[in-house]
Formats: sequence, structure tokens, C-alpha cells
Amino acid sequence: MSTESNLRRTFAIISHPDAGKTTITEKLLLLGQKIQEAGTVKGKKSGKHATSDWMEMEKQRGISVTTSVMQFPYNGRIVNLLDTPGHEDFSEDTYRTLTAVDSALMVIDSSKGVEDRTIKLMEVCRLRDTPIVTFMNKLDRDIKDPIELMDEVEEVLNIQCAPITWPIGMGKQFKGVYHILEDKIYFYSTGQGHIIQKEDCIEGLDNPELDKRIGAMAQDLRDELELVLGASHEFELEAFLKGQLTPVFFGTALGNFGVTQMLNGFVNWAPAPLSRQSNEREVESNEDQFSGFIFKIQANMDPAHRDRIAFMRIVSGKYEKGMKMKHVRLNRDIQVSNAVTFLAGDRANLETAYAGDIIGLHNHGTIQIGDTFTAGEMLKFSGIPNFAPELFRRVRLKDPLKNKALLKGLIQLSEEGATQVFRPFHSNELILGAVGVLQFDVVAHRLQDEYKVNCIFEPVSIHTARWIMCDDEKMLEQFKSKADDNLSLDGGDNLTYLAPTRVNLNLMQERWPDIQFCETREH
Ligand code: G4P
Repeated sequence: MSTESNLRRTFAIISHPDAGKTTITEKLLLLGQKIQEAGTVKGKKSGKHATSDWMEMEKQRGISVTTSVMQFPYNGRIVNLLDTPGHEDFSEDTYRTLTAVDSALMVIDSSKGVEDRTIKLMEVCRLRDTPIVTFMNKLDRDIKDPIELMDEVEEVLNIQCAPITWPIGMGKQFKGVYHILEDKIYFYSTGQGHIIQKEDCIEGLDNPELDKRIGAMAQDLRDELELVLGASHEFELEAFLKGQLTPVFFGTALGNFGVTQMLNGFVNWAPAPLSRQSNEREVESNEDQFSGFIFKIQANMDPAHRDRIAFMRIVSGKYEKGMKMKHVRLNRDIQVSNAVTFLAGDRANLETAYAGDIIGLHNHGTIQIGDTFTAGEMLKFSGIPNFAPELFRRVRLKDPLKNKALLKGLIQLSEEGATQVFRPFHSNELILGAVGVLQFDVVAHRLQDEYKVNCIFEPVSIHTARWIMCDDEKMLEQFKSKADDNLSLDGGDNLTYLAPTRVNLNLMQERWPDIQFCETREH
């Protein structure tokens, strides 16, 4: 069993929108033989990936809202790729997805360099020292100087770069890459992006064949490499595994070039499933007993099913169809006969899965983000955060008789983690909080589509929300009676303070030093 688990490489792609995440995902699936020809999986514009009505909206906006999981075998390993939403309004989903991976692939648009979203996502990876592989994309265009690109990564992202491949030319003059560790030159040819290409390569930087094929560029390459190798870091596995150094590959995802070298390096070096911290103890991936945690809940992936799927990262042991697991928060055994796995939107029933794998459980309202499942042990995995929303709207129904359906819809949608619903103590209003403004559109659309509720959102003067914690019950009661006007319950019945202004929040914190106003809530 632990051998099976050792084969797993579970990762996600971090990048700024438009850097090429979708394109490289498609090429990885092509290389993993999961699709016959690139251009069939996720064409944003062709909309082949839009399998639900709600994704219709995603298609119209040209953004990827969903997180799906793709599994494919490669070079004797089993690769699990967790897709993440690119749009920043869905960043919470992405943060939590990063708690379920063991490594990450950073894709950079080489004509732009390090962009905002990448910086933020790297910060999240830093929290767990996640090992990072870097792919410098779009070499078929005019890009920034490769040396400057690496400097930028080192400086802005504070991680050492070890070039593994080095580009020969760029844009129209892009000839291929030199593999520093293999001492091989791989040549690029255009128009081959949709297929697995036959390798066109020669051995040795000093090979006269190189001069024959690329002329004067050969000597330029040799000179440049001397400089680069002198000034850059050598690849060191240990530093990579600690998240201190990133191996860097150059290529073009669109041209499906340089991706193979990256994937080979990736499956070779990326860590097998890592242990995870729980409140009670650290759980190793090679333990026999089953355990896992939920990092995402998603509704309606397939209009034929109309249910919600809870995504679980298996931390240890093995999932088998029909097995019993303990739902720790509810302290209840459940039997799971129909977990699912995902391939680029399709789902298939699953017989077995191992530590490192992601499985989907059908959820009828009993599973929440952060829930732990075990073979019986009472433990709870930690580190899966909920962030305080920064945007608020009052929800107003068009048909007041639908209040019950509205509340149910809002609570179920907030279980997915992207939005949060608040019920103020002093009124019958419902307040919706989100991290990004696009979330409100998604909620309105889905309420209509899935719950047949029409509602509109109105501005409301709330600055921020804080979860309230206090060990001293008497103090808490006092606080509740004084702060009543701004208190509410969230979807999970947790006490929250909705601060009308920043000043108000500061004042309250000063006045109530024994009350904790928490910015994040751990599930
Ligand atoms: P994302 O998921 O990170 O947002 O990026 P995506 O893969 O959708 O790529 C964004 C745009 O960049 C796409 O063009 C894509 O074709 C292009 N692209 C990706 N990799 C490369 C590359 O290596 N070279 C070049 N030249 N372009 C690349 P688009 O015009 O926005 O969309 P589409 O019409 O191609 O779908």
C-alpha cells in the first residue's frame, strides 16, 4: 500500500491569469495519454469543458471557476493535478486547494515576468514550504531576457533559481532548449503543439552538428551558458524539497515544447505524499489506517447529477469502495460506496485510492470544508482556513415567499467556502459576504438556477467581519449584550461581529481585550 502511495505526485499549478495554465494542463494530459489530441479538453472559447449551466457563466466570462482533479500515469508515477480557478475573486478556493498538494508548478508568462497573482500564491505556498517547479512560458514570443527573468523570480519571490533547461533564441528565432543536466539540445519545430512530438535532439553542447543547425547562435549559446552557469544556482534536491530553490524550465505550452523536459524533472523530483499536521499528532502518509480531509465542496459539476461533491485529500491508508469511515466532526460512521474520481470534467466511479489521491464524496449537506475522516481515530487535520470576507451585500428576495429556499441555498453555497452568509441578531435580513465581487454574480446565478430563487443584492454598510472567540463565558455574554447590534451567526452558526467601519472595529477591540476578533476561522 505504501508503495502505491509512494508513486503519487500531487500538485497544482500557480500562475497569473493568461500565463498559460490551461494550455499547459492540456499538454500535460496529452503527455499523460489522457487525451488523444490537445484542443479537445478545455477550449475556453469552444466551451467543451462547460458541462453545467452554471459553467455557462464561466464560459461567457472566459474564466475558470471550477477546481477539477486530473489523474494520469507518467514514467511509472501517478500524477494528480489539481486545477485551480485563475480569477482572483476565487482565490480562497485556490488557497485551500494548495493545502491539498505536495508541490506546485509555477507558470510564468516570460514576456511579462512575475505578476501579482503569482506573488500572492507563492506566499500561500510559503506557509507550508511547498516545493516549486518553474516553467517559463511563451518562448515563441518576444520575451524578457532569460537571465533577468530568473533574477526577477529570485528577487520578487525570494526563491533561488536553478536553470535546468536554457532557451536558444526566442520569438521567431526560438530554436529550442539546451538541457543542462543531460547535456543535450532539443530542437523546436512550429506547428506541433497539438501532438506528442518526436524528439529531435543531439548530444553535447560542443557538438559541431549544433553549429550546422543554428549557425552563429551556437557560439552565442555557449558563451551565454558559461555566464549563466557561473552566476546561477545548481540544482539541489534537498533545497528544492524545502521550498528554497526552484528548478527552472523554458518552453512554450502552446507549442508543446519544453513541457516534456519539465514533466520528466517534475515526476522525478517532486515529493511523494507528505505527512499532514492534525490537532492531535502528525499523520504520516505511509500509515495503514485511512485518513483524509475535505478541502473543497463544489456543486453541480454535472447537470445530470445535481448534487454536491466534497473533495477529499487522502492523507494516509487506502480508500476502498464500500468502506466505512468516521466523520470525526459528527462522530458518526458513514459508508462510502460511490466515491468518484475526475478526469477533466468526466467522473468515474472509483474502486480504490491511496494517500496522495483526491476522491470526491457525494455530499447531501453533512460535509463541510475542513472535515476530517478517519478509520476511527478522533483527530482533526489543521490548517484549512476560511478567510473573513471583505465585501458585503444585503440579499433581497424578489418573491418574499421564497425565504426558506433562499436561506437553504445561501447556507449550502457558503458550505462550499467561496461566500459566507450572515444572519444578524437584530433583524431578519440576510447578509452575504465574499472575498471577490464576482462571487455575488455566481451566487445570484446559482440561486436562480439550482434553487429557483430570484434575488438581488443591495449595498450595505459593513466594513468587515470577524469571528468571535472567548474562553470566558461570562465575558462573552456581556459582550453579546453590548454588541448585539452588530452580531450575527454565520452559515455554520458561528458567532461573528459585522463591523460597520474600521474605526468601530478598532474601538471594540480596545474595549474588549479578552474577546478575540479572528480574521480567519479554521474549519
Ligand atoms: P490561463 O489558463 O493561465 O489563463 O492561460 P491560457 O492557457 O488560457 O493561455 C492564455 C493565452 O495565452 C491563450 O491565448 C493561449 O493560447 C496563450 N498561450 C498559452 N501558452 C502560450 C505559448 O506558449 N505561446 C503563445 N504564443 N501563447 C500561449 P488566447 O488568445 O487568450 O486564447 P485562445 O484563443 O488561444 O484560447
